[in-house]
Amino acid sequence: MYKVEVGDEVKKVIENVVSHYAEDGMAEVVEYLNEVVNNPDAIRRDMPNFDCDEVLLYVDDNVTAYYIATTPQINYPPHEHAMEAVAAVYGGAETHDFFDRDGVNIKHRCQVSFAAPSVIDMNSDCVHSICNLGDKPNETLHFYFGDLETQTRTMWDMQGQNPAQYDQDRYMSLATPMTKNLNN
Ligand SMILES: [Fe+2]
Repeated sequence: MYKVEVGDEVKKVIENVVSHYAEDGMAEVVEYLNEVVNNPDAIRRDMPNFDCDEVLLYVDDNVTAYYIATTPQINYPPHEHAMEAVAAVYGGAETHDFFDRDGVNIKHRCQVSFAAPSVIDMNSDCVHSICNLGDKPNETLHFYFGDLETQTRTMWDMQGQNPAQYDQDRYMSLATPMTKNLNN
């Protein structure tokens, strides 16, 4: 069900992503979303002006869709989704730090920046964190192929330790401005 009012073009994208994933899997979703992010005028027009960074647009048992406009110059904590996911960047750039599992903890592997137009698909085992190295919020859609709100999944602290069930309040409380994080 939709959690907020969105325009028809946004609904069309969500519904097309769901049907592509059900019929043909992630490869088809990536191909479709590449078309979307390369022609973003309609979705930008039909996306409301939200007053926060992360807005849950739609959720059911098969998909969770977020609009995410990542605040610049903040490192957010690493986490897994425990389901396949895809990010579609249609404004600005989204930077991902990817991690390898090391027992119950994780170790940083690499950092990759994806400038619009970009589509980033993540398998269900992926551990990442996101940040925005730019100077204004980016514009992205994130899709998770399941109900992310109720999923059993892990987040870690900024050192990749202390794994625990993902919790949005802990996620926001661990977010660290880049100027205060000498490791980044
Ligand atoms: Fe994520």
